[in-house]
Amino acid sequence: GATRYYTFNVTMQNVTRLCTTRAIPTVNGMFPGPKIVTREGDRVVVKVVNNVKENVTIHWHGVRQLRTGWSDGPAYVTQCPIQTGQSFVYNFTITGQRGTLFWHAHVSWMRATLYGPIVILPKRGVPYPFPVKPYKEVPIIFGEWFNADPEAIIAQALQTGAGPNISDAFTINGLPGPLYNCSSKDTFKLKVHPGKWYLLRLINAALNDELFFSIANHTLTVVDVDAAYVKPFHTDILLITPGQTTNVLLRAEPDAGCPAATHLMLARPYGTGQPGTFDNTTVAAVLEYAAAPGHIKSLPLFRPSLPALNDTAFAANFSAKLRSLASPEYPASVPRAVDRSFFFAVGLGTNPCPKNQTCQGPNGSMFTASMNNVSFDMPTTALLQAHYANIAGMYTADFPAAPLEPFNYTGTPPNNTNVSNGTKVVALQYNTSVEVVLQDTSILGAESHPLHLHGFDFFVVGQGFGNYDSSKDPAKFNLVDPVQRNTVGVPAGGWVAIRFFADNPGVWFMHCHLEVHTSWGLKMAWVVNDGPLPEQKLMPPPADLPMC
Ligand code: C2O
Repeated sequence: GATRYYTFNVTMQNVTRLCTTRAIPTVNGMFPGPKIVTREGDRVVVKVVNNVKENVTIHWHGVRQLRTGWSDGPAYVTQCPIQTGQSFVYNFTITGQRGTLFWHAHVSWMRATLYGPIVILPKRGVPYPFPVKPYKEVPIIFGEWFNADPEAIIAQALQTGAGPNISDAFTINGLPGPLYNCSSKDTFKLKVHPGKWYLLRLINAALNDELFFSIANHTLTVVDVDAAYVKPFHTDILLITPGQTTNVLLRAEPDAGCPAATHLMLARPYGTGQPGTFDNTTVAAVLEYAAAPGHIKSLPLFRPSLPALNDTAFAANFSAKLRSLASPEYPASVPRAVDRSFFFAVGLGTNPCPKNQTCQGPNGSMFTASMNNVSFDMPTTALLQAHYANIAGMYTADFPAAPLEPFNYTGTPPNNTNVSNGTKVVALQYNTSVEVVLQDTSILGAESHPLHLHGFDFFVVGQGFGNYDSSKDPAKFNLVDPVQRNTVGVPAGGWVAIRFFADNPGVWFMHCHLEVHTSWGLKMAWVVNDGPLPEQKLMPPPADLPMC
């Protein structure tokens, strides 16, 4: 493969949206940030230079980082942050992946503005496994715009124990679109030619919201998720959680009666929380056909309909449609036997308000979030450095394999829902086959959690509503063509089962990709030890690795 070099200069840039101008962290002054274009098998080398006051790291979300965990990016997990005036070179190879991923800052809430697409083309000369050749490929990256400083918002929320202020708009390629006040000039427009095929590379980079997406009068064919091919299927509406990517084919078919008509594409949240606890506004972009002779341009405007904000049934049905391509060229190597199985109860909870403080969480408490009642504390040096250099005292390898006190996860919560804090990990031998059942807890109401695993793709072998039943549910698992991905929605009021081989030595973060839940502690890490062979060992750290 080739080597692709990039320089990411992190600088502040004034950006105006919704008539509000804010200085935001950007890469090379661009918002959204620059697109990385690479091929399967290529090496990507990105020099990141920090020219802002805050600490920076960049995560290459979904890139497997085989043996190159030093380049993964989550602050205090695989590296100490890049400090002001410093730089760090990320260096990794794209192995066995093709499709769309994205990069984003991975420290505090900096990813609110610091993100961009990663386009992974097949190896040179290798065609797509679908029968049409796209005329054009277009990244569609969803984001979330805040008129206030996101860092101030999360700092205040953590201090008061309250839920953070919600965003002011969603964006498509950085633009909120015409349904917001003072925004119609900031509309993303996709000009299309009748009869041509387009490959849309959808990325949900929003901080805190899963999104429904649809284009008026156009059917979408899903062909790839999280940089792995799927069995193509047609849909008018799709769901995409933060951390997920979806490639869809779109055939440009103008309206028969009005070939110059404009079609809106809309996205708005799927959320089960109370009104006011999440941004429920709608972002619009425009699919535009060139005006045919004798027709008035842009009239009328077609508008798609989207599911209700809390349409959990749609979410579950949509996820169930996703299957690995599982062809001879692209087999699905699903672990059939399981060496170690885990049951993680994931969800929100509350902790008592510290003495001499007033808290604004539910009933004067503080919001928290946990897995198996452990809320993760960030360490003060990178876990990967501690693991590699055998520095004791940074973490404990006693993350519970199941809740210490099981309860009715989707029913009446127990009286004591307090959680404990710790920097706890699970240690795995190289190439262990792992199963994790992720069970939503309804302590504060059922809610979907997009769980993201670093360093691996996993197979989603089963999902269901209610409490997982280990005596019945495994019999229904799909071990033939389950979807392969890096981020999965734990269904609101239900569970999902994933499997993967721990074939990548290093320290790998796993967390909810709703950033507020990560801030509240819905995160943990896996430590995967080296295997016996040289090609099963973590590479040594790069010389310019930042120190804490
Ligand atoms: Cu896209 Cu750890 O995250």
